[in-house]
Amino acid sequence: MYKRRRMELLENLKWRYATKKYDVAKKVSEEDIDKIKEAVQLSASSYGLQLYKVLDIRNAALREELKPASWGQPQITDASHLLVFCNYADVKDEHIDEYVALKAETQGLDASALQGYGDFIKGKMKERSLEEKQAWTAKQTYIALSSALAACAELKIDSTPMEGFEADAYSKILGLEERGLQAAALLAIGHRSDEDATQHGKKVRKSLDNLIETI
Ligand SMILES: Cc1cc2nc3c(=O)[nH]c(=O)nc-3n(C[C@H](O)[C@H](O)[C@H](O)COP(=O)(O)O)c2cc1C
Repeated sequence: MYKRRRMELLENLKWRYATKKYDVAKKVSEEDIDKIKEAVQLSASSYGLQLYKVLDIRNAALREELKPASWGQPQITDASHLLVFCNYADVKDEHIDEYVALKAETQGLDASALQGYGDFIKGKMKERSLEEKQAWTAKQTYIALSSALAACAELKIDSTPMEGFEADAYSKILGLEERGLQAAALLAIGHRSDEDATQHGKKVRKSLDNLIETI
């Protein structure tokens, strides 16, 4: 029989908000940060390729340097942690080979049995321009970002998803280009300041009827 269950995710999503002002003194534990990272790891990605890398910026001087490149937003330096979600700047055959090898090893399969699958993905990638591939890998990072947001909310940890930054400046400061990466989005993580007025604002959302259409 269908059993009605309370959906905590909805409660958590109502609790969270994009935090503007953090309490600098309140740090998030390593244990919780590890859980948030695991939520990133478990995120869905197209073909399972996970063509992104997340940088956990612990260096305070670097965060000071990143702040002016982030429209001066205080969360960059004041939050307990700052994650930079970087997408791969290109999708190369070797990335597909790496995935196929990992899948074979993880699932105890013969790599040769997966060759057709790998070739299919490679073929699909060759149909795309570099810009299309970059837009596609950047999209994947947002799925991981969303998992991290939900994980933070469940842990009652505040967070801010952020796009308000200059990707070129981030690339220079963090040496992303030489690593084949581009900064797509940020996630500041920490605990809200009592003075953050944003926490008292009612959520602004379109009605479900407006947002979702049943056809
Ligand atoms: C991809 C993305 C980028 C965002 N960039 C910023 C940002 O740079 N700075 C900021 O304070 N909030 C940023 N936000 C937060 C949004 O403004 C916020 O999520 C939205 O207004 C809904 O409010 P809520 O998240 O508090 O419910 C961003 C959100 C998303 C999803």
